[in-house]
Amino acid sequence: MFCKVLSFLKKPDFKKAGCEPAEEEPEFKYLAKSKKSKRLKEIFSAIPKFETKRLVLRRIEEGDYAGMFEYSADLDVTKFLVWKPHATIDETKKHIAELQKRYENGQFYDWGMVYKENGSFVGTCGFTSFDLSRNICEVGYVLSKNYWGMGLMPEALDPIMEFAFGYLGFEKIEARFLDGNARSKKVMEKVGMIHEKTEHKGIFVKDGYKTVYTYSISREAFESRRPR
Ligand SMILES: CC(C)(COP(=O)(O)OP(=O)(O)OC[C@H]1O[C@@H](n2cnc3c(N)ncnc32)[C@H](O)[C@@H]1OP(=O)(O)O)[C@@H](O)C(=O)NCCC(=O)NCCS
Repeated sequence: MFCKVLSFLKKPDFKKAGCEPAEEEPEFKYLAKSKKSKRLKEIFSAIPKFETKRLVLRRIEEGDYAGMFEYSADLDVTKFLVWKPHATIDETKKHIAELQKRYENGQFYDWGMVYKENGSFVGTCGFTSFDLSRNICEVGYVLSKNYWGMGLMPEALDPIMEFAFGYLGFEKIEARFLDGNARSKKVMEKVGMIHEKTEHKGIFVKDGYKTVYTYSISREAFESRRPR
């Protein structure tokens, strides 16, 4: 299933995407931990642009507020997320303005997803955290309901996972979902992740403690599943 879904995708050109290091610097994966942290900030303050068959992944911009509000205000979309639905479009505008500052400081690691066929801003995906001591990162994602069930999120995750393993040199990628989020579980399975742990009542979200499932994929598993 994994290869069937992703086999049409090419390895992204990181140089073209604008994330090559300064000439005298070693590749990211060979840097010491302290330098990695500095370099991560540089990379994400000018977040590289990726393209898949149906999507462009790029920096989230001020003009994306209408597309973002559409899903951020949707109770079905936010049901299993840690953040509350946006009540007004102004809230979304403020959120995007805040994201601009976080990008500039290299402290935000999400791509905006644009559906090429109609140019709509349909969701976001990216890294929620990095553990540079253990060389592990975590991914997270959200997609507008009108685009569910088309395989778009596994497609978006492909260059991001390639970036995490191939360019950033992480050893493992993790993702977590809350009890009941069968769609998200399916996405994780489709990109080749396997169940790693279950934490019963492991996180307090909105109105109570929820069980949280962690899935993950190792570098070896990712590489062995990809056609080259
Ligand atoms: C989770 C999410 C990103 C999935 O993205 P997507 O692009 O629609 O994913 P896919 O198209 O691969 O579809 C997911 C799979 O779930 C399956 N699915 C749908 N409803 C399901 C259900 N109730 N139970 C089990 N599987 C279900 C679909 O059939 C599909 O599998 P298939 O392609 O083998 O048929 C999207 O639903 C979303 O944004 N949800 C709200 C935000 C969210 O929960 N984010 C994740 C937080 S951990």
